[in-house]
Amino acid sequence: MKGVILAGGSGTRLHPLTRITNKHLLPIYDRPMVTYAIEALVDCDIRELMVVTGGTHAGEFLRLLGNGHEWGIDRLSYAYQERAGGIAEALGLAERFAGGDPIVVMLADNVLENSIAHAVSNFRDQGTGARILLSPENDPEHLRHLGVPQLDGDRVVRILEKPAEPPSNFAVTGIYFYESAVFEIIPELAPSGRGELEITDVNNWFIDRGTMEYDVLEGFWGDAGESIDAYYAVNDFVRANGANKP
Ligand code: G1P
Repeated sequence: MKGVILAGGSGTRLHPLTRITNKHLLPIYDRPMVTYAIEALVDCDIRELMVVTGGTHAGEFLRLLGNGHEWGIDRLSYAYQERAGGIAEALGLAERFAGGDPIVVMLADNVLENSIAHAVSNFRDQGTGARILLSPENDPEHLRHLGVPQLDGDRVVRILEKPAEPPSNFAVTGIYFYESAVFEIIPELAPSGRGELEITDVNNWFIDRGTMEYDVLEGFWGDAGESIDAYYAVNDFVRANGANKP
């Protein structure tokens, strides 16, 4: 399994901080945000990684990560996204890197309290299709800013992106597992209302084929790019409790 870390986007929700750097280079406690996603994957022994980024600060990732060895990465590749065209478009840039292997995709603004090793192992056993990680969330106002699954027993029947009426008390986190067929659907996607190729449309494609599974995360999950308050909530949590715990 290879890892794809998505670290692009214009970061408008964190303006003006993101005028002077890429969102994923802002600090979370004592180190840049992107290093938490790297740690989450490397700790699961996923050591062949691609970082997809873009914009005017992309070169800083090379300065921070170099060849990746210092961060436990065996082989680090980079891709440059020409415009902020959405998560699914960014993922499309990793097709040749993936080379037919299954991948785990992680949004570089997602920070976790605990290891995702169990989900990696579950996807290895699953062997095909896709898998998402859900985090319990009871606040409907928060859910309106995220992807939310509609569940029927142990199946996800639909994911709604930023729903006015959230269909469950779970958030779809920015950690996704895919078989290589994911690269077939991306060219077929149409931009959403926000002008982006949505990862939720990719996930609904797998749901329609009956090959989507999920795990529910235990412990803290945060999207540090969601708002300045979310950014500080993640900082406060990590400073007090740490992250990526085994
Ligand atoms: C993206 C996804 C959303 C998911 C969130 C998690 O939202 O579209 O489904 O819940 O990441 O971080 P965005 O950050 O692009 O608004």
